[in-house]
Amino acid sequence: MNNEYIIDEMTEDDLDEVAEIEATSFPVPWSRDLFLRELQHDYSHNLVARWLDGESKRVAGYVVFWDVKDEIHLLDLAVHTDFRRRGIAKTFLKRVIEAGLQMGCKRIFLDVRESNEEALRLYRHFRFKEIGLRERYYKDGENAIVMSTKLTSNLLV
Ligand SMILES: CC(C)(COP(=O)(O)OP(=O)(O)OC[C@H]1O[C@@H](n2cnc3c(N)ncnc32)[C@H](O)[C@@H]1OP(=O)(O)O)[C@@H](O)C(=O)NCCC(=O)NCCS
Repeated sequence: MNNEYIIDEMTEDDLDEVAEIEATSFPVPWSRDLFLRELQHDYSHNLVARWLDGESKRVAGYVVFWDVKDEIHLLDLAVHTDFRRRGIAKTFLKRVIEAGLQMGCKRIFLDVRESNEEALRLYRHFRFKEIGLRERYYKDGENAIVMSTKLTSNLLV
């Protein structure tokens, strides 16, 4: 399969597919309604990757991030199991970085489950550093690692 996907704005029509990916990606998933609410906030940015296969398009993944004053907060990111390890998450991170730079933001912050090795590797690739621990942060009792990276265009190379 070639890497044929585009990054696009999330719309309400995407939400069934987004919620399905979410449900298979996280132990305590966000609901469809929660994504719907995100689409209504002006500080919330919601992108999808659309996998192009002839005439058909599937949602292959999504990212949700907020701009809060001069910070970007990355709230949710997942890629459908059929489309993982094809660079889609890296493309999302680059889009988030570009958006943050355009808005004049200084840093990106996020929380990640302590056991999520794939995500930790992804974020370290973009020079995120561990800056804190939220004990028993998730509903199932797992700790969250707080990570942050300084926003510079060097992150895109
Ligand atoms: C984490 C996740 C978003 C990565 O998506 P992806 O599109 O497969 O990631 P990419 O192909 O862009 O890979 C980017 C980097 O992430 C790391 N990575 C991704 N999957 C990995 C795996 N299975 N094992 C080890 N490292 C992995 C690697 O560093 C990889 O770079 P490389 O391929 O050059 O080694 C995806 O696995 C996912 O949706 N997981 C469930 C939801 C989740 O954990 N989201 C993050 C919440 S904080």
